[in-house]
Formats: sequence, structure tokens, C-alpha cells
Amino acid sequence: MSANDRPTGQQQTANRATHDSAFMRACRREPVPHTPVWFMRQAGRSLPEYLKLREGIAMLDSCMRPDLVAEITMQPVRRHKVDAAIYFSDIVVPLKAIGIDLDIKPGVGPVIAQPIRTRADLTRLRSLEPDDVAYVTEAIGMLVGELGATPLIGFAGAPFTLASYLVEGGPSRNHEHTKAMMYGDPELWADLLDRLADITSAFLKVQIEAGASAVQLFDSWVGALAPDDYRRSVMPASTKVFEAVAGYGVPRIHFGVGTGELLGLMGEAGADVVGVDWRVPMDEAARRVGPGKALQGNLDPAVLFAPREAVEAKTREVLDAAAGLEGHIFNLGHGVLPTIAPDALTRLVEYVQTETAR
Ligand code: CP3
Repeated sequence: MSANDRPTGQQQTANRATHDSAFMRACRREPVPHTPVWFMRQAGRSLPEYLKLREGIAMLDSCMRPDLVAEITMQPVRRHKVDAAIYFSDIVVPLKAIGIDLDIKPGVGPVIAQPIRTRADLTRLRSLEPDDVAYVTEAIGMLVGELGATPLIGFAGAPFTLASYLVEGGPSRNHEHTKAMMYGDPELWADLLDRLADITSAFLKVQIEAGASAVQLFDSWVGALAPDDYRRSVMPASTKVFEAVAGYGVPRIHFGVGTGELLGLMGEAGADVVGVDWRVPMDEAARRVGPGKALQGNLDPAVLFAPREAVEAKTREVLDAAAGLEGHIFNLGHGVLPTIAPDALTRLVEYVQTETAR
């Protein structure tokens, strides 16, 4: 461990309180009192209390206000009794913090004013300093006390997914500009991903130093790549991020969508927990990832629109497929859909926790 990633007082305090929680135990593949459960995007538009709090406040503005961040992060913990909180923010917040002109457009997602397409554009990606995101440190400080024994998951976007937004200029179905750079100018691509790896590492370190108990790297759109391209063009940058935070000893979760063919490599990239979407059953995912890693997943978020009995039957399938795993954290295969009735999520948490109680 280097001098700059030695645990601080705050981090040690957070880890002591949450160390024996079901979530942290499952990440370490230790026996658990019940299968821990939390949801990607558990905070946000599915909750009326969130919509009320956000009235008249732009998404990015809300991410920079520690009081709002702390309150929004707590909302799903109070309502659903999930086993972990996830820090309320967005993957583009660190890019905004280093001066990239971008906005989050409702119903669209992140939009970048001037896409990054050339070597000259790279100079706009300066390094991230903790002072750039002082509001993150402040919000996590507030949260750690309030959460007590409930772990807080910090997160960041992975280099590929961030690069896709930066190069395309916004959300993209086919990632055409991104792939044009990746295949057409591999050196520029590698330098872009390397810069993003450094920014992401710095951002995760801020969250861990402030008291986050675990971190998740979201490579949401990397399922657009074939395994060879992933290994050659993306894995080195993601590995750099995982290695940068390895010294803290906090669990590192690695998640993407449509990544059935990449699960083994995503584990190899360096993660303690591999996230699985709903397209691969958990037992098959475990075979693809191999031993020594916990898995997180993987109920199809759209299943929650079905009647209660159907939700329970599909949840049972996930739990049964995961029964032989070394460590299982129950989650959806992707984020909570904004139109879901929140009660369906509360019931799901209770179902998982009681059905798996031992
Ligand atoms: O509860 C949590 O999970 C924490 C909140 C969270 C947000 N974004 C809040 C948000 C997290 C973990 C993210 C990460 C994120 N952002 C990812 C990775 C996760 C994933 O879903 O794969 C990605 C790809 C983004 C980019 C992004 N930001 C998208 C695609 C959108 C949705 C656009 C839309 O309006 O449909 C956003 C906006 C966003 N991020 C919202 C929230 C609550 C909605 C904005 C609002 O509430 O006004």
C-alpha cells in the first residue's frame, strides 16, 4: 500500500461499523445471515419523495449539494430497508468537476457540448483533485454517521462507458464515433482511456477516503464489444482503476449490461464482485467468472411490473441459481425503471431477506 492510499480515520470508522453487515460479508464470500439485497438506481424517479425533493432543481445541481445528496441517498434505505446504500450522483459528475461542458437532459441522459474526437481535445481532460469534488467528501461525511452499520457504495463510470459519452457527445445505440476512434486511432484511444482511468481512480479514492465501504465501477455499455476487443482496448484501463484502489481493501464491484460473453474478462480485469445482467443465469455466470469472486444480480428489472406471485417465482429462480455461489448479492440485472411502483421494490427486499434467512 502506498502512502496516499493508506486508510484514513474516517474510512477506518466506516469500515468498523459496516464490516460485519450481510453485504460486506457476501462481498468477501463469508457466511451471511441472509442474502443481502440492494438495487442499482434505487434512489431516483421511482420514489415520490425523490421527485418532490428534486422539484425545480436540475439533476447536476442536486449532485453538488451535500444536503440533497445525503437525503436522496437515504430515501431508499429508509423506505425499502435495503442492505446497502449507493451514493447519489451520476457517472458524468467527475467530468463536470474538471470543467467539461455537459448537462444531464431529462429523458435523454448526459449530453456533452463539444465531443472529444482529436488528440487536441484530450487536453480538456485534466486530472481530478479532491478539492474539485469537495461536496462529495462532505456528503459522504454526513451519510456515514446516519447510515450506521449499513454500508455505503461509492461508484464511478468505467473508462469505456465514459469515453462513449464523451466521444459520441451523448447516449448512443451503436457507439459509431467511439468505435471509429478505437479501431482507427488505437493510440489516441488508449491515451483517452488512460486519462479516464486516472480521473476515475481519483474519484473513487475521494469516496473511499470519505468513508465509502465498497465501490462499483459501472461499465454499462461495454457489452457492445466482442471479447478480443475488450481485452485489447478496454481491459488495461479498467484494470488500472481496480489496481489504483486495491490498497484500501474495500470490495470492488464491476458491472456491465449485455456482458455475458465478457464476464470472465471483467472478473480478470480486477474485481471482488462481478455484476451480472438478467441474460445469463447466476450458476452459468459463476462458471464463466470462475472461483474466487462473489456475484451480484440478476432479476430482470421489468419483471417487477408483473403480479406479486410472478415476481416471487422469478426471484426464486434467481435465488435457486445462486444457491451454490461462494458469495451472492441480490440485485436487479440493471437499474430500477422509473415507472415501477415503489411498493414492488419494498416487497422484493423483504422477500429476499426472509426467504434466505438462515
Ligand atoms: O440510486 C442510484 O443507483 C444512484 C444514482 C445513479 C444515477 N446515475 C442517478 C441518475 C447512478 C448509479 C447513476 C449511474 C449512471 N448514469 C450510469 C450507470 C448505471 C446504469 O444505469 O447503467 C449511466 C449509464 C448514467 C448516465 C445517465 N444519467 C443516464 C442513462 C440517465 C437517465 C436519463 C433519463 O432521464 O432517462 C442519467 C440521468 C440520471 N442519473 C437520473 C438519475 C436519478 C435521472 C435524472 C433525474 O432524476 O432527473
